[in-house]
Amino acid sequence: MSFSINNHVHSVNDPPIGQVRAWAACRPDGSPALIDLCQAVPDYTPPSELIAHLQQVVSDPLTCRYTPDEGLPEVREAVCERYRWRYRAAINPGQICLTVGASQAFWLAMVVLCHAGDEVILQSPCYFDHPMALGALGVKPVFAPFVEKEQGIPNPAVIEKLITPRTRAIVLVSPSNPTGAVIPHRRLTELYFLAQRHRIALVLDETYGDFVDGMPHDLFTLEDWHRTLVQVQSFGKTYALTGYRAGLLAASAEFIRQALKIQDTMAVCQPHITQLALQYGLEHLDTWVEANRLKMSLRHNLFVSEFMKPGNRFRIVASGSFFAWVKHPFSGRSGREVAKRLAQEAGIMTLPGEAFGPGLDEYLRIALGNIRENEMSEAIRRFRHFNS
Ligand SMILES: Cc1ncc(COP(=O)(O)O)c(C=O)c1O
Repeated sequence: MSFSINNHVHSVNDPPIGQVRAWAACRPDGSPALIDLCQAVPDYTPPSELIAHLQQVVSDPLTCRYTPDEGLPEVREAVCERYRWRYRAAINPGQICLTVGASQAFWLAMVVLCHAGDEVILQSPCYFDHPMALGALGVKPVFAPFVEKEQGIPNPAVIEKLITPRTRAIVLVSPSNPTGAVIPHRRLTELYFLAQRHRIALVLDETYGDFVDGMPHDLFTLEDWHRTLVQVQSFGKTYALTGYRAGLLAASAEFIRQALKIQDTMAVCQPHITQLALQYGLEHLDTWVEANRLKMSLRHNLFVSEFMKPGNRFRIVASGSFFAWVKHPFSGRSGREVAKRLAQEAGIMTLPGEAFGPGLDEYLRIALGNIRENEMSEAIRRFRHFNS
């Protein structure tokens, strides 16, 4: 390039999934078929009734138009209705902005909250896109350390020690990507009040929240939730619509008003067709969502019980519906090195631990969304026989 680019962007790591795909692409002829345990996408398709509905609405020329920046009022009302039963939330459509996936909701939250030079606390291992987005904005990610025996569940006393006058937010992901661990209600409430005491935001990413059995937490029942809580949500996994980019930001009406200044310049609105898909899902697909929650939970249980059988030197240290966080047995070797050899020699795509924060070289992330039950024993056999 004959021009310079933003230093902050330059220093951000490359997206890790692309790297693993590139490793997997360089395999000798005759290698075993690839097993993709790399990206967290459901292997199943949306229900046919949703596809049929979309075929119908796509033929309406009005579907081609912009919507209000925050999204159609009836779709935001349908979101609120679902939040009222799922979270017992006191919430109204003015507290919602529909976004281009949870990814864009996170950007809106960070741009509204932070100046370059500020700090944001992330629980380690964290979702890799979070430090990447912060780095691009010149915001410093401050990592709360991963403690194996606590399975990465954030500890309020540890997090409190990381708060400085520059801290703008604590970011939590529950269920976690990459560990799958769900933060217990009480712990989340403690973290909420910790953030409130320090007058910083608690940003909660619940991309996998619909895979939790029962009410994920009770923060939305607190009268003043919107003074502290900023929620990032995705419906991509919920309705198997990851390509539609269906997410949202829930926060105070004032926070949303500020976020809309960014939304207008960044995306204008969530795609209209996505909003119609989301509305259909919210109004018709609760039973389907619950069936898939159960399916993913059974898949996880089966995987864990098979993986943990004697003879496997890889060890699961935390897991949940979509993920297993695994310690590899090759001390002194980085997660990157092990993941690369797993991809190239065993045809298994995983993500290296260091993608999820510093000092995590001993770990790998396994995503369970893609693996069908009939592939499981072959995948686990390859782990068992892998000798780095
Ligand atoms: C924790 C977390 N947040 C956000 C996202 C992005 O979600 P979306 O596809 O809705 O942008 C993902 C995707 O895997 C994720 O794991």
